[in-house]
Amino acid sequence: MKKLVVGNWKMHGSRAFNAELINGLKAADLGATAPRASVAVCPPFVYLGEVAAALQGSGIAVGSQDVSVQAQGAYTGEVAGPMLSDLGVKYAIVGHSERRSYHTESDQLVADKAKAALAHGLTPIVCVGETLAEREADQTEAVVARQLQAVIDTLGGDLSRIVVAYEPVWAIGTGKTASPEQAQAVHAFLRARLTAASASAASVPLLYGGSVKPDNAAQLFAQPDIDGGLIGGAALKAADFAAIARAA
Ligand code: 13P
Repeated sequence: MKKLVVGNWKMHGSRAFNAELINGLKAADLGATAPRASVAVCPPFVYLGEVAAALQGSGIAVGSQDVSVQAQGAYTGEVAGPMLSDLGVKYAIVGHSERRSYHTESDQLVADKAKAALAHGLTPIVCVGETLAEREADQTEAVVARQLQAVIDTLGGDLSRIVVAYEPVWAIGTGKTASPEQAQAVHAFLRARLTAASASAASVPLLYGGSVKPDNAAQLFAQPDIDGGLIGGAALKAADFAAIARAA
């Protein structure tokens, strides 16, 4: 399967910072990785239009970090799928653990956001992952299965156009990466759940996220069920993100 490497800029950046980062990414000629890996970046909403315009023709796609379940209306502060499509946005991250925990997003809300993204031509990147306490209590599979099941139930048979990202919460921004074996085990579990739910899900890309860096990316991406990465901190440095994309 072709790899997918996505940078999640989270709440970082400024017009000047973004311009420099984009120049660095363009200079790294990530379009050249195109036969083996697709690359995308997810800046904050306010910069999406500008970043999409700056990346035109670079081969690097743009994604959002969230999307509303509503298509339009009186929903102050929300951003709708049609607005994102209108800007040329391709992906929408949904259910990132930071949104699940700081904005109390439920499994069902996340599933509804995935459905809304698909309805408006966006590819949802559905994040799942357990906390350290859940891992230590041997709940990893139960947690990711529950998070994934809401999406499977909500989308029904329509699983062919989603991306799933496994991001163990304890590995995000901590420098503690899941070992390639730990990540592979969860990815194989997710793959089995997806294919059991629908034959259309066999080719769903499964990304790993959590302290992916240039020095551990190749080992992670070499695992049979790891189809790419969702990159946080390292996506803010052009050289690091380019190195990770090349490792794919
Ligand atoms: P880090 O790569 O900074 O650990 O972040 C991972 C992440 O949350 C990407 O969505």
